[in-house]
Amino acid sequence: MIRVVVAGGAGKMGREVCQAVDKDPDLELVGAVGRQSVGIDLAKLLHLKNDIVVVEDLERSLQENRPQVMVDFTNPASVMDNIRCALRNKVHVVVGTTGIRDKNLREIESLTRERQANAIIAPNFAIGAVLLIKLSELTAEHFPQVEIIEQHHDKKVDAPSGTALKTATSIAAKRKTKTPPPMGETVRGVRGGTVEGIQIHSVRLAGLSAHQEVIFGGPGQTLKIRHDVLDRSCYMPGVVLSIKQVPKRSGLTFGLDKLLNL
Ligand SMILES: NC(=O)c1ccc[n+]([C@@H]2O[C@H](COP(=O)([O-])OP(=O)(O)OC[C@H]3O[C@@H](n4cnc5c(N)ncnc54)[C@H](OP(=O)(O)O)[C@@H]3O)[C@@H](O)[C@H]2O)c1
Repeated sequence: MIRVVVAGGAGKMGREVCQAVDKDPDLELVGAVGRQSVGIDLAKLLHLKNDIVVVEDLERSLQENRPQVMVDFTNPASVMDNIRCALRNKVHVVVGTTGIRDKNLREIESLTRERQANAIIAPNFAIGAVLLIKLSELTAEHFPQVEIIEQHHDKKVDAPSGTALKTATSIAAKRKTKTPPPMGETVRGVRGGTVEGIQIHSVRLAGLSAHQEVIFGGPGQTLKIRHDVLDRSCYMPGVVLSIKQVPKRSGLTFGLDKLLNL
């Protein structure tokens, strides 16, 4: 049984994680940490097996509940302190929070070695999104042209999405021939933005969740690869797999693709 504490346990992703951990016979939810939500009885709210009330002090929760793994779905301002705290206490970490920079990754890697606790960090835990990138890499070798259309809800602050950027750079690394698309514009910006020679179009609209389509073009044919997030449950198989793998994978693992043997 792997004991798990969830930082951000009362947040939108955190609640899904608490329920997924609670349902899995190999995992045990032993604590949840938050800020505004301190005192909320998650067991009652989410119908969990264990008594879980949100607390504020992560370090205390780790020391009292003695988990093997801390999962973090908080925010960019809190995530590094939470990771440092968990690794300092020799607790493995699984992190989905965005905003972790390259210099942070270097620090986390060295902390994992120092403390002999491991980290799995994935900017996207949806297995479908990881497969979309892999399938795009495979297709890139055979089609000379490609464009990416990503669509998200209107609360998303960044554009393009991290997944679209990663898709573009992964395709660019695999392309053998590139036929540049026509770039004539009578309205500035209408052809989208260019990343490594690939056009990305970012749509932001209320009502959308997270969607991405990669359209490849070649003489006489197109091929479209599309992924749609319908609700947050799509991230849970990736999170649960990471919780089970993190005690066995020494150091820092970045990206869910490393766990899927693709
Ligand atoms: N990797 C992926 O696949 C993936 C997928 C979706 C989202 N995300 C990312 O996951 C993160 C969370 O997203 P969300 O939609 O769940 O956000 P959210 O609903 O705002 O939840 C964030 C939670 O973090 C808690 N929090 C803030 N500071 C904290 C701290 N210092 N210690 C412990 N908890 C703290 C907040 O607690 P209170 O409510 O108590 O204030 C809040 O409940 C974001 O960075 C998002 O971009 C990643």
